[in-house]
Amino acid sequence: MYLTREEEKLYEGEEGWSYQVAMRILVKLGDLFEADRLISIDSAHISGVSYKTIGDAAIEFLEALSEAGAKTKVTSTANPAGIDYNHLDEMVKQPKIHERQSRIIKLYRNMGIKPILTCTPYYIRKPKEGTHLAWAESSTVIYANSILHSWTNREGGPSALAAALIGKTPNYGVHKSENREADVVIKVEADIKNEAEFGALGIHVGRILNDEIPSFEDLRHPRETQLKHLGASMASTGMISIFYPCTTCPKSSDRLERISVDTDDLKNAFESLSTSSEPPDMIYIGCPHCSFEEMKRIALRLRGRKIRNSVKLWICTSRHIRRRAENYVKMIESAGGKVLSDTCAIVTWLKEIGINVLMTNSAKTAYYAPTMNRVETVFASLDQCIEAACKE
Ligand code: F3S
Repeated sequence: MYLTREEEKLYEGEEGWSYQVAMRILVKLGDLFEADRLISIDSAHISGVSYKTIGDAAIEFLEALSEAGAKTKVTSTANPAGIDYNHLDEMVKQPKIHERQSRIIKLYRNMGIKPILTCTPYYIRKPKEGTHLAWAESSTVIYANSILHSWTNREGGPSALAAALIGKTPNYGVHKSENREADVVIKVEADIKNEAEFGALGIHVGRILNDEIPSFEDLRHPRETQLKHLGASMASTGMISIFYPCTTCPKSSDRLERISVDTDDLKNAFESLSTSSEPPDMIYIGCPHCSFEEMKRIALRLRGRKIRNSVKLWICTSRHIRRRAENYVKMIESAGGKVLSDTCAIVTWLKEIGINVLMTNSAKTAYYAPTMNRVETVFASLDQCIEAACKE
């Protein structure tokens, strides 16, 4: 990969160890994927923030980088952490976990990463169409490429951090227009109505395509939230980082292979996401983190109702949306629900707070929770989740 004189200096360590490490990560990645050069990025989004997912070795690495003076060169945000410090009563109680998690957040902040701990940074600051990014977190990446029309590879935590420190990323993958074309048309022959069904569709398509780029036909005016769920689940079972909803299908789609998805495919995918028929201990909405519209919908459904004593209702969103949707937060909380920020069900400790059965409208959470959280799942629509949470 070609490096400018300035990049070479960073690579040789002339600007310090932290930038040398970052450059080495980027060059290794670039060489692996045959990138021709580094390109400037508008922003970076870093995953690997929860102590539950990264552990002690990663803290040592972050400490070394921070002590060596690492500072980000571009706007950088971070994914949810394992703890919401404003809702400690809801969280795992071990002081060691609280201390380690807070250290991770501090280290990222020292390096210049905004402590906006959310997987929906695009609700706070939307990158412009056509700008290059280095974003980690698969649901965030697929949203950026497919809905915002920005350009980002599916970064891992270390490569997104390295890109944040250098302000550049290797030019390969979906940074090149020829790699953003659809590979296959998905013809949807089922009637898909809500975000859970869009999520189930994504689970099915991710399983059959792996890393091919789908262009959907017949999605019938999907809402933004539904596409968010479709992308998040597709990126969970597959390595897909971009898709085309019908309205933006490239015209060349006539020459592409066509795969039909029918009602049975959808039903099978939907049913595969429930592992239990027991009553849930927790109902969880907010994967990916809720938008303002989702907060409104939840609040209006809960108006004048009360959550059962036997179940917790967790709604996760960013601090920014929490503030904007303050009135809806009050409505949810007066019904007995909890609106959490900075964390999510997958990256926090559920079993340790007594959760055995988790009900959710998120296909991504239902897919990961049995392995990541060791809990059983019940997968259902948002309306069914709210009904199950409420007293008669
Ligand atoms: Fe976001 Fe957590 Fe889901 S990071 S996409 S809410 S697993």
